[in-house]
Amino acid sequence: MKTIPIIQIGVGGVGRALTQQLLAHGDALAARYGIRFEYVGLADSTGLRARRLGLSVSEITTALAEKAVGQPLSPAGAFGMGWRSFILPQRGIFIDVTAAGGHEQALAERVATGHRVVLANKKPLSADFSAFQALTKGGGTRYEATVGAGLPVISTLQSLLDSGDTLTRIEAAMSGTLGYLCTELEAGKLLSAAVREAHRLGYTEPDPRDDLSGADVARKALILARTCGLPWEPVQIQAEPWFPAALGDVSLDEFMARLEELDAPFAARVAEAQAAGGALRYVATISAEGASVGLRVLPGDHPLASLRGPDNLFSFTTARYAERPLVVRGPGAGYAVTAAGVLADLVATARELRA
Ligand SMILES: NC(=O)c1ccc[n+]([C@@H]2O[C@H](COP(=O)([O-])OP(=O)(O)OC[C@H]3O[C@@H](n4cnc5c(N)ncnc54)[C@H](OP(=O)(O)O)[C@@H]3O)[C@@H](O)[C@H]2O)c1
Repeated sequence: MKTIPIIQIGVGGVGRALTQQLLAHGDALAARYGIRFEYVGLADSTGLRARRLGLSVSEITTALAEKAVGQPLSPAGAFGMGWRSFILPQRGIFIDVTAAGGHEQALAERVATGHRVVLANKKPLSADFSAFQALTKGGGTRYEATVGAGLPVISTLQSLLDSGDTLTRIEAAMSGTLGYLCTELEAGKLLSAAVREAHRLGYTEPDPRDDLSGADVARKALILARTCGLPWEPVQIQAEPWFPAALGDVSLDEFMARLEELDAPFAARVAEAQAAGGALRYVATISAEGASVGLRVLPGDHPLASLRGPDNLFSFTTARYAERPLVVRGPGAGYAVTAAGVLADLVATARELRA
């Protein structure tokens, strides 16, 4: 039996689902692959709870229960040390399931010393290209869940490229929140009402502008482009925001109060799309020539036009899939499916470490 030490950074919705899946599935993985994951650390924004020889199941479940009711892992710094200064007893895996920026250098240092990284966090891969290179060098980082949550998007793209196919274009709708809003608009809802409802249901970030800016889609597009070998920097992908610049600087309360200002322009765009027999979608298009991320009117028979609600769709047009693109479609968000994407990456990484 090979024991693989793991440190999980982030114990939020995805992080807790991942830990629960690993605890539930650990014996099956041990039986199937002769691999046992050992949690040596769990970290949140307050600090690290760690034990070099492995946290016990009761220590892990206690930590999960505390995080579920909003308690910090390290009240008043009681556990002192952060994950950056923790030394793993042997080669292991750092899992980043936070949404935090600034982890790329520390994670790349772990890769450089023989450890592996698994990410649901997009930010380490969408900073400078040099950080992406350092993280992914020698296959040191897996990141399936960063794009399309649990859908096999990155692995599909990598398999196409590894087998000698060449990419012509990726077209994708990869924001569940913006997909939901497009469907509501199509059903006749005003944008202001749709955004308030999505906010109330927790479909948007606490500040809906984080979704409506398109920045999250631009990060995913950058990760896809870099996976194709394009050495792009973040400035090379500009997303079209759903609101004018003037509403970007006001307080959240003022933004929510002024949402009605967006109703007429969006109603006009939807009416125009419907009059042409098409559909309005928030689309990312990536090719070697460049990327665009924004609202597009698509013909009614376009695969993306048939999308409903928060589902994602990724269409890969390649030399081999030239006439009919290869399509990956399904739920692109949710704690359980995202955690499952991370867990699949963990298992693949552990099998490599065992070998
Ligand atoms: N939710 C989805 O459906 C989905 C789908 C695909 C990808 N993702 C990605 O998965 C990641 C996690 O999403 P989530 O929904 O689980 O977020 P979340 O519920 O907000 O949890 C984030 C966790 O990260 C911790 N954290 C924040 N900053 C940190 C730092 N600097 N150092 C250590 N820990 C830190 C937070 O600590 P505290 O508890 O102390 O605040 C919290 O435990 C995000 O990058 C997200 O984009 C999510």
